[in-house]
Amino acid sequence: MRIDILTIFPEMFESPFSHSIIKRAKEKNLVEIHLHDIRNYSTNKHRSVDDYSYGGDPGMVMTIEPIALCIEHLQSENQYDHIIYLTPDGITLRQSIANQLSMSKNIILLCGHYKGIDQRIRDKYITMEISIGDYVLSGGELAAAVLTDAIVRLMPGVLNDETSALSDSFQNELLSPPVYTRPYDFRGLKVPDILLSGNDKEIRKWQNEQAYEKTLRLRPDLLNEA
Ligand code: ADE
Repeated sequence: MRIDILTIFPEMFESPFSHSIIKRAKEKNLVEIHLHDIRNYSTNKHRSVDDYSYGGDPGMVMTIEPIALCIEHLQSENQYDHIIYLTPDGITLRQSIANQLSMSKNIILLCGHYKGIDQRIRDKYITMEISIGDYVLSGGELAAAVLTDAIVRLMPGVLNDETSALSDSFQNELLSPPVYTRPYDFRGLKVPDILLSGNDKEIRKWQNEQAYEKTLRLRPDLLNEA
């Protein structure tokens, strides 16, 4: 998969994409992530990318031209399944959306700033608008990094059997059951004996019950949806 990220702060992605699973996926050539500085597409001598909003509302709006030129440049070289704008008024990111996007070949992620981007970009180029939750971030960069992580770890070949995404929370509409490792006894806090029983069937049954009980207690809305 190829992911192109349009941003005015490309440096914000350096650390999140240089560690752990995304780093490995890049090294294995399973994903290519390209960062594009929207300012490089500004035709203005000050390299500006924003302007006052029509209607007199306070706050600046990102202008059409640099974003349009950047998207059109990319579209002249690649075909994209989705051009996604990260925005608090998009559809809320869920595991099912990450699953669906992980099957894409190429996607563009557009990060906004200030009061947002000129509506005409949204009307003409954007195919999907995603929010990572009901709160407002300073810009779309952190949201784009979250979305990228959620997608890349689901791509075939990225996780091995041990870290398989199939047992993640949300993957089957349930939260994950509790997990334990050594020591067996930490200051009197013991690992549930069933996990040491060696009885695979009983262990799976216990884990399913725990997952169900935890979901019912913490996120009953997930059970209602399922
Ligand atoms: N940009 C600002 N806030 C955001 C959010 N909650 N989700 C996605 N993009 C954003």
